[in-house]
Amino acid sequence: MSDAQRTTAEPEKREEFSGQLGFILSAIGSAVGLGNIWRFPGVAYENGGGAFMVPYLIALLTAGIPILFLDYAIGHRFRGSAPLALRRVKRWLEHLGWFQVAICFVIAVYYAVIIAWALSYFVYSFGLQWGDDTAGFFTGTYLQLADVGGADPWFTLDFVPAVLIPLVLVWVATIIVLAAGVAKGLEKVNFVFMPLLLLAFGTLVVRALFLPGAADGLNALFTPDWGAMTDPNVWIAAYSQIFFSLSIAFGIMITYASYRKRRANLTSPGFVVAFANSGFEVFAGIGVFAALGFLANQQGVAIAEMDGLSGPILAFVTFPALVSQMPAGGLFGALFFGSLVMAGYTSLLSILQVVSASFQEKFGWTRAQAAIRIGLVAAVFSVLAFSTTTGLIALDTVDQWANNIGIVTSAVVTTVVIGWVLRRTEEMRFHLNAVSTIKVGRWWSFCIIVLGPVVLTYMLVSRIVSLVVDGYEGYSGTYLGVAGWGTIALLVVAAIVLTRMRWRVEPDVFSAWPRNGDKS
Ligand code: ALA
Repeated sequence: MSDAQRTTAEPEKREEFSGQLGFILSAIGSAVGLGNIWRFPGVAYENGGGAFMVPYLIALLTAGIPILFLDYAIGHRFRGSAPLALRRVKRWLEHLGWFQVAICFVIAVYYAVIIAWALSYFVYSFGLQWGDDTAGFFTGTYLQLADVGGADPWFTLDFVPAVLIPLVLVWVATIIVLAAGVAKGLEKVNFVFMPLLLLAFGTLVVRALFLPGAADGLNALFTPDWGAMTDPNVWIAAYSQIFFSLSIAFGIMITYASYRKRRANLTSPGFVVAFANSGFEVFAGIGVFAALGFLANQQGVAIAEMDGLSGPILAFVTFPALVSQMPAGGLFGALFFGSLVMAGYTSLLSILQVVSASFQEKFGWTRAQAAIRIGLVAAVFSVLAFSTTTGLIALDTVDQWANNIGIVTSAVVTTVVIGWVLRRTEEMRFHLNAVSTIKVGRWWSFCIIVLGPVVLTYMLVSRIVSLVVDGYEGYSGTYLGVAGWGTIALLVVAAIVLTRMRWRVEPDVFSAWPRNGDKS
């Protein structure tokens, strides 16, 4: 490739992963996150247990892996973060790119808060500082949740220092690594944290399996409720879980693939990443439910009778309770919360890298400028919205909308535009096959053109209808209008405004390589 063919939209020469291993570890680091450890076990349990594995596997094969490959193809062929790469596919698609960047920004803002909680709880594990009433400790002593007495949980500016301090630490660590760059920062962190995470979490799972009652926990998780498979909500849960967990359809994998060398195998690492992520997810389910079986055993109840088996309550109320009852529980708690911190932090880096790369490319900022400016703005939002006494409720609401509406909308638009409007699926398949050892067949195009748009649109519409009709958690329409739908409006406005701003560097002098029809 001649220099003339290189993009000029790069303030510094495009960064690259040092090689295939660095890319695979970083992509796994992005995929394996809070979604695997605290979201998957609860989602699987609530949606049919063992029977959830069927929709989950189908979602992985029909949407997860196909869209992962589509993200890779777009990022690698058009060599940019989401706005730049998508603009090079078709100029007006830059809007979709910024929509994805905005999703990343919103997710990063609350994701960092959960990592901060986990960091506090890592420290509290030593000495079991949460005491006997773990629910009271989490919502009262730790989060100092405002008692809104049935009223709407509007935002307050009552900051909670116990959350604020670890949150600032998380942001400082994030800014430093992003400023260091892809190979010297991101990749190095993943080289250290991924093996460490496997070691810590592996130890936890093995320990959990030897606890009394572990088998009951596994039975509760894996006993299939086949009836659940006829419930559309179970399928929706499976697809949403896959998107968030695999870090697809919100710009991350487009951006990561753009840091691979021109001649880089895409599909085999893709399979490794996808199966490693799902493997870790099931592994987390096993560890968490074996431990819950122990708690049920200690309390002399069946798991089905227990509350708090999903979401923040599972991790920050139920888990500490069982840690307190275990011999040498403090160590077990430290392994769990330490794993949450490591898994979450490597994912947070990838989420924010999307925002940082987009601003570098469009506005000509250096890496350090982008890391500091974006990190600071995100940190301020994080502190204002989520380190206050209404933080938990705001976080839960924004998460629902950003994930179930934001990411799924982005996936629908991507597949419809590439598959139907622009009819570029074959070009993407050509690209994947030109550089990869494992070739993708027509099944892939079928998933992108037919299954993706149809299944995902159905999912999205059902989700919107259910949120409009049933609301969420009993909060008033006004609150949900602001915190939930307001978040979506913000994403759309950000996409339009950022697309309209002027490029400081030329984005369009570019030729895709290999040209359609070239041999690799
Ligand atoms: N993929 C990341 C997670 O699962 C965002 O948490």
